[in-house]
Amino acid sequence: MKFTIKSEKPAEARTGCVILGVFEKHKLSPAAARFDKAAGGLLTRLVKDGEIDGTCGKTLIIHYPEGALCDRVMLVGCGKEGEFNEECFCKAVSSTAKAANACGATDAVSYLAELKVNKRDGYWKIRTLVEKTESTLFKPNGLKSSKNKNRKPLRSLGIHPGRTDGKQAARALKDGKALAGGVELARTLGNLPGNICTPSYLAAQARKLGRAWKTIKTSVLEEAAMKKLGMGSLLSVSRGSVEPAKLITLEYSGGKKGSKPVVLVGKGVTFDSGGISLKPGAAMDEMKFDMCGAASVLGTLQACAEMKIKLNVVGVIPTTENLPSDKATKPGDVVTSMSGKTIEILNTDAEGRLILCDALTYCRKFKPEVVVDIATLTGACVVALGHHTAAVLSNDDELAEELMTAGKTATDRAWQMPLWDVYQSALDSNFADIANIGGRAGTITAACFLSRFTKDYRWAHLDIAGVAWKSGKAKGATGRPVPLLTQFLLDRCAAR
Ligand code: BES
Ligand code: MN
Ligand code: ZN
Repeated sequence: MKFTIKSEKPAEARTGCVILGVFEKHKLSPAAARFDKAAGGLLTRLVKDGEIDGTCGKTLIIHYPEGALCDRVMLVGCGKEGEFNEECFCKAVSSTAKAANACGATDAVSYLAELKVNKRDGYWKIRTLVEKTESTLFKPNGLKSSKNKNRKPLRSLGIHPGRTDGKQAARALKDGKALAGGVELARTLGNLPGNICTPSYLAAQARKLGRAWKTIKTSVLEEAAMKKLGMGSLLSVSRGSVEPAKLITLEYSGGKKGSKPVVLVGKGVTFDSGGISLKPGAAMDEMKFDMCGAASVLGTLQACAEMKIKLNVVGVIPTTENLPSDKATKPGDVVTSMSGKTIEILNTDAEGRLILCDALTYCRKFKPEVVVDIATLTGACVVALGHHTAAVLSNDDELAEELMTAGKTATDRAWQMPLWDVYQSALDSNFADIANIGGRAGTITAACFLSRFTKDYRWAHLDIAGVAWKSGKAKGATGRPVPLLTQFLLDRCAAR
């Protein structure tokens, strides 16, 4: 989609579709009122006749309105004016994108960025408009043999900037595009089946980013190199699979030379069968999404490069399959991690922490400013927070707060759970330094496990098991938490 800033008055925009907001009950937005005047009270009549009631997200299209230069005018309900907030804004944007794409117009101009959305500025509104339009119109990349094509899709969206100045508006467009691109990359990779998206495939994708951006340097460690480094925990997970594990590193240098990087570590299990502790069959296909942490790191790094974020950022991706075989790790096996700590593997399905712990130890070499790991780590997280909210657990409350704030800004929310010492003893083992599972409060005990390997730096863990993909009819990767992570980096830049 092409996005531009368009400053014409609504009745003077020569376009396939002018998009205007209306509030409950019968309250036209400022742009709609201006349009109404030029069109001889057309919109007033429509709302009075009950053609549209202002319910948030409902749309109405009228063709060839007299007194205006557009082919269509679309009204979108924005709810009660006093209650219009970030969620309503996103909902309105999303439904106008869908309706505009389906109505036959190839271009449109949206006047929604003039609306007051709590305390959000014009930059936020324009960037969000771009990002939500793109993500609404995202189509899973076709592995279907017959393509079901929309012959006249929306190709270009003009955005009226309202009171936002030109420079801000231009930056918002650019950042919105970059963010949408990062989300799209994460979704595309997430949706790929396990027989295509293997650890080697992810490594190839990372190398591709390294070739595309001068600011990104990619390197990949093979199993032999990991063995030399003593990554017995990571390698215990890949033992059961013929696909070789990889440890991918992407170094983005946008900051001052030598300034400490933010390190993002993404779980890249390209298929999680559970291993010898085999999962039940129902919905097991969804375990192809168990690499969405890795995909979010790749998406975020791409967005960073495109936005030219002035920070150093390192992405670390441990990636493997988790499968049963005669070689596979068994419950009761004890392995030695890179840190030297021994681990009793009581359940081979708790594999995410086993690959992350070695990656987290490996991170020390980057002398990180902070480390954030992103993982579809526990089913318990979905029970606790559902599909709306990611979990944050951290050894630093300020860092957790920073991530929650970024999530709020980016409408990609996360909520902190406790990482108190009382939970640590659940991981006691009779035979090794630590067990890989620990009873109740699964999201917390999983984070406790990771915390044993992150003592040297400020660290936060994002459990994205509930937010990384959708099930059911809308099954597919969401691209979350690319918006949260990118916002986190933007906020860190702005703070310096
Ligand atoms: N990848 C799963 C977590 C998961 C499960 C995410 C369901 C989304 C939906 C992870 O590797 C796993 O299997 N975790 C186990 C841990 C348990 C064995 C302690 C879980 O959550 O059941
Ligand atoms: Mn598992
Ligand atoms: Zn897993």
